[in-house]
Order: sequence, then C-alpha cells, then structure tokens
Amino acid sequence: MALLDVKKLKIYYYTLSGIVKAVDNVTFSLEKGEVLGLAGESGCGKSTLGYGLIGLIPPPGRVAGGSIVLDGKELTKLSSEELRKVRWNEISMIFQGAMNALNPVYTVGFQLAEPLIIHKGFTKREALERAAELLEAVGLHRNMVRRYPHELSGGQKQRVVIAMSLILNPKLVIADEPTTALDVVVQAQIMNLFKKIKNEYRLSIIFITHDLSLIAEIADRVAIMYAGKIVEIGSSEQVFNNPYHPYTKGLLNSIPRIRHKEKITWIPGVPPDLRAPPPGCRFHPRCPYAMDVCRREEPEMKAVEPGHYVACWLY
Ligand SMILES: Nc1ncnc2c1ncn2[C@@H]1O[C@H](COP(=O)(O)OP(=O)(O)OP(=O)(O)O)[C@@H](O)[C@H]1O
Ligand SMILES: [Mg+2]
Repeated sequence: MALLDVKKLKIYYYTLSGIVKAVDNVTFSLEKGEVLGLAGESGCGKSTLGYGLIGLIPPPGRVAGGSIVLDGKELTKLSSEELRKVRWNEISMIFQGAMNALNPVYTVGFQLAEPLIIHKGFTKREALERAAELLEAVGLHRNMVRRYPHELSGGQKQRVVIAMSLILNPKLVIADEPTTALDVVVQAQIMNLFKKIKNEYRLSIIFITHDLSLIAEIADRVAIMYAGKIVEIGSSEQVFNNPYHPYTKGLLNSIPRIRHKEKITWIPGVPPDLRAPPPGCRFHPRCPYAMDVCRREEPEMKAVEPGHYVACWLY
C-alpha cells in the first residue's frame, strides 16, 4: 500500500471575483521513502496542493472534492482536532519562504523544543537536548539552540526550518521551494542535506520547486503541473530522458546550460487565469501541436510506458 494516495483532489479558492480552481482533479501516489518532485510555472497550484495535503488551506480556499489517504487514513474526512494529531506528527511542511518567518523573539532552541513539549510531553530539558541533536543532524552546531533567528545566515536559517519539519519524526515532509533565495553554493549544501535526511530517516518527501535541475538531483519520480493539473508523471529517468507532454518538453528546453551553449527556448504566452481556464486541454493556447480535440475535450491521463503517465491528446 502506498504511504500517500491522492485521488481526484480539488482545491478551490472561493473569491469574490470567482472560483479559482488552483488544484483540479489531481491524482498521484507516493511510496514510503520515495521523493516526488513537483514542478511547474508560478501560480500552477504547487503550494496549494501542499497546503491541502497538510490541511492548512488559507481562506477562502477549501477542498472541493477528492480524497487524500495517508497510511490508510482518509484525511479529508478528519475533524480539525483529529487532523491536528496527524499534522507535524505524520506529515509536515516546510513552507515557501519559511526561513524568513522564524519568530524573532524566541531562540532557535525554544522554537524547535516547543512542539516536543506540547505534543510529546517532553520536559524542557529533554526537548532542548533533542533540539540540539537535531541541529547537529542538519549540520549546525548544537550551541545554536541559544541563538536568535537574526543571528543566523540564510543557509543556517533554512537548516533550522528543515530541522523543525523533522522534530516530531513525520513520515512525509512537503518541502516547498526550500532552496529558493539561497546562493548556489548554499543551495547545493541544502540539497545534500535533503539527500542525507531522506536516507537516514527513510522519509517520503514531496519536493516542490520551479527548478527542474534540483528535481533531477533528488527525486525518484517527477510530477509536472500545469494550471492546476498534473499533466505528466513518471520516474525521473522517464520524464527527463523521454518527456512526452509538450509542456514538459518546453520546461526542459528552458533550462539554461552553462557548458553546452545550446540555444534555450521558452514557452510562449502565460499560464491561464484559473478562475476561467480554457476549455479542453488547459495548455492548448500555448501548445505548438494543438489540434481541434484539444480545444474541446480534456485529455485523460494515459500510460505511455509502465509507470509513466501523460495527459495529452497526441498520445
Ligand atoms: N488565498 C488565495 N486566494 C485566492 N487565490 C489564491 C490564493 N492563494 C493562491 N491563489 C491562486 O491559486 C493559484 C495557485 O497558487 P499557488 O500559490 O498554489 O501556486 P504555486 O504553483 O505555488 O506558485 P509559485 O511557484 O509562485 O509559488 C494561483 O492562481 C493563485 O493566484
Ligand atoms: Mg508556491
């Protein structure tokens, strides 16, 4: 049985100017110890999907349909009290930009220790000891427990935020753009840290980023999202070496390579307004291969090889 099984998940924001269908009929699963990379242009619904999985969708958003099963438990049917027990204990999230949202008035140690005191009944001394151990596990000095967030560099803050996501030993961590805003050297260090914790803790990770090269480095499988939908999903090898969807191909062609001076191309146009997405395939207005059927009917996910699925009328 998969650790996480998401089926036909819909998350909509009910705004005054219309319903934003930010996640629309998303289906995928995740095995224990597996890393799934989730990529797509800005605004395609990556963060919203993460919020949905952890049950923290900001208003006016809510789950409008579908199911999320974690370890046999249907999360969309839990009461907020029951969900609170699952959140952080079984599934945690590193929020986009979280390193800039550490509480400035508390020490790093206190912020790490607090959930252990509240959720696990640790004494303050036990919790601080565990916080110090975890800081060492993410490559920081244990004395950091006494420091305040403003005394840390960006890379150090990001390590603290990663430690926070691990403090209650979850099975699944959703990491939303965890290296964006870091310089390339620190970014590489943080990527190595993710590889280390993945192996040591046998964690499942959903790694959200707009940067496909990071996904190539860490993910076992890749899901490509466009305008609220997963358009292609498969193993990293399948998706990177043999992409099928024109959108995936476009994304891969827009990665600049320093050594081979190939011409980079980009996808013309912009993603649609999710209050009124185009009919049929949502990518058709930007697709060089668009046919009549693409403008009329939405393509279903089809297997193009074992484990590799694409939603496109070309196949
Ligand atoms: N609180 C909100 N109210 C209304 N619409 C929202 C809200 N939050 C997000 N949206 C809309 O939902 C869609 C998906 O947003 P989301 O933040 O999930 O995208 P993303 O893929 O994470 O983008 P980025 O790469 O920029 O972080 C966007 O069209 C966005 O405008
Ligand atoms: Mg986001």
